[in-house]
Amino acid sequence: MTTLLPMSTDFFEGTFRARPGILTRGPGRVNLIGEHTDYNDGFALPFAIDRSTVAALRLREDRKVRLATDFAVGIVETDLDSLPNASGLGWAAYPIGVAWALGQFGADLAILPGFDLALISDVPVGAGLSSSAAIESAVAVALDHVWGLGLDRRTLARAGQRAENDVVGAPTGILDQSASLLGRADSAVLLDCRSLETDVIDLGLEAAGLSVLVIDTRVSHAHADGGYGARRASCEAGAQRMDVRALRDLKVADLDLASARLDEVTFRRVRHVVTENQRVLETVDHLRGHGPRSIGDLLLASHASMRDDFEISTPELDTAVDAAMAAGALGARMTGGGFGGSAIALVELGSAEEVGDAVQRAFRNAGFPAPAVLPVRAVDGASVVWAEEKS
Ligand code: GLA
Repeated sequence: MTTLLPMSTDFFEGTFRARPGILTRGPGRVNLIGEHTDYNDGFALPFAIDRSTVAALRLREDRKVRLATDFAVGIVETDLDSLPNASGLGWAAYPIGVAWALGQFGADLAILPGFDLALISDVPVGAGLSSSAAIESAVAVALDHVWGLGLDRRTLARAGQRAENDVVGAPTGILDQSASLLGRADSAVLLDCRSLETDVIDLGLEAAGLSVLVIDTRVSHAHADGGYGARRASCEAGAQRMDVRALRDLKVADLDLASARLDEVTFRRVRHVVTENQRVLETVDHLRGHGPRSIGDLLLASHASMRDDFEISTPELDTAVDAAMAAGALGARMTGGGFGGSAIALVELGSAEEVGDAVQRAFRNAGFPAPAVLPVRAVDGASVVWAEEKS
């Protein structure tokens, strides 16, 4: 993060031959528990991590929008009158989508000035750590500030989701953007995805002598591809068959009826969501009552449910979880949308390296490419890092 800031200023200056007027940061996220519950109006418990995208931005006098990033070559150019046409724009669909989506939430795009924007990130792409939400939240916070919109965090999160759904074309829920915008240091955010109400839950990891390791399997995933949308469609079909607005409205006690009414596959999809919601609430109770040492079994049960019922894990993710557990982790699970990406492991502070080595060995033995293992900390959500005085 400390190096990202000067890098982004230099990159902006080198690209646009001017100084940026604002620097913002948007963190990636890890979901501690509560997977594929967000679009079912359920609960999730993510936290923002110490990996971020930095947005360097300067307003222009005209209506042009110019975008650059250090992970793609060249400058993408458009203007505020052409939004949200992002076809063929690749990564630029995310920032362009956010600018357009802010218009859907009250910004009067017909009269606002254009901007130059440079993005630099140390959130690995395709790792299931929400590099996309990191971009969306950094850009949303920057535009909210320079355009003087005064939108609250929940609205900025909804704008990020709208950008992803309608411009990028990924049918994702509100989890990632909420974590990136509402995260708090050393805490997870309990998210009620129906009301969008949040509660900050103290993690107390360091005090308990624990840390969270991310194991990036380097099997890239993309939510605009089919698997994610197919799971979402199954959930919606299940809710309809069960006559409820969303799977959030089913409880564990309703599963007997669900098993009688649904086909076998839909039932297992539904069972994952219903039990996962329950596990999120239990994890919160455990964290409040007994601290982070008590949540390992819930993390493991969540992984098993995603592997067996929701069928979104991969051999690499299962290997990461099994190897971490065999090396002494208290709990482990895949995190994010699945079909690749990362797993997390809750480990003793002193044994993080040992667990990392064991996972590397297990991958080698299985013939998988080496994973990246990184410890993460829970940090505050997106923020303005620096802005020039408004004249
Ligand atoms: C992705 C999506 C989120 C959420 C998770 C699964 O990260 O972007 O909205 O559905 O998958 O929990």
